[in-house]
Amino acid sequence: MIGVFDSGHGGLTILQALEQHLPQETFLYLGDHRAAPYGDRSAAQVHDLTRQGIDRLFAEGCRLVILACNTASAKALRQLQQNWLPKRAADRRVLGVMVPAIEAITRQPWQLASPSQRPPETPRSLGIFATQRTVESGAYPREIGLRVPSVTVYQQACPGLVDRIEAGAAAEELRPLVQDFVARLQHQCEDGPPELVLLGCTHYPLVAHLFEEALPPGTEVLDQPQVVARSLAAYLTRHPRFASKDLRQETRHLTTGEPDRVSDKAARVLGQIRRFEAADKGAGLKHSA
Ligand code: DGL
Repeated sequence: MIGVFDSGHGGLTILQALEQHLPQETFLYLGDHRAAPYGDRSAAQVHDLTRQGIDRLFAEGCRLVILACNTASAKALRQLQQNWLPKRAADRRVLGVMVPAIEAITRQPWQLASPSQRPPETPRSLGIFATQRTVESGAYPREIGLRVPSVTVYQQACPGLVDRIEAGAAAEELRPLVQDFVARLQHQCEDGPPELVLLGCTHYPLVAHLFEEALPPGTEVLDQPQVVARSLAAYLTRHPRFASKDLRQETRHLTTGEPDRVSDKAARVLGQIRRFEAADKGAGLKHSA
């Protein structure tokens, strides 16, 4: 069973793509709705909450956990992988959503961390829309710059957008917000609009059509959920010990929030019925933060 962790609903966009690409796998989703959004939290809080979430999924029997949250992947994953996981469960793995996105942007495997010439299909310029914390972490520009320094990366934080999406705001309300963030990104771009755009927050694919509408026609939008799903499929081929041996069981969804309210919101936000159960019926998450 593969665990999928997010601060709230956004990770469902990743889960959906994983379910489509990996029909034989069983997934367990955990949304930390009580502590969401992570995008405005300190690095220490994101680290601790993410660690607790992963622990909860390990306690349910997951041997592989996908951090379906850009903020957690950017702010907490490396530290958890290096300092916590080897002591907690050296035989288990935690993977994030940043590495697959960066591999897709740079058109080269992650391990090739030495600066290279720009491979022919790599975009000259990239726009990233993300939460304040992801932007501040500088993780995307840093990791892209280490690999293909000639790619110009522009970042734009979109404060408040996750909250409005989570609140089920209608397109009429979201459109001007998205238009404003796109205009602010374009304002930074010295050499015309970016060739490629990454919606670097799991909630933003839910309003990808509004970003596409606001961006100039030539700008391609990278589909992060699809990229993550393809990357996980390749990972499981390379590491079959993390792949399910049995037939898929129905996905279960846990939340640290109020299950009925979260389920209703998931239906509104995602347009799909996803029944959530309370996560704290087992080893609960402690929200001291
Ligand atoms: N899931 C988070 C991300 O991808 C966005 C929501 C939040 O701020 O908690 O960055």
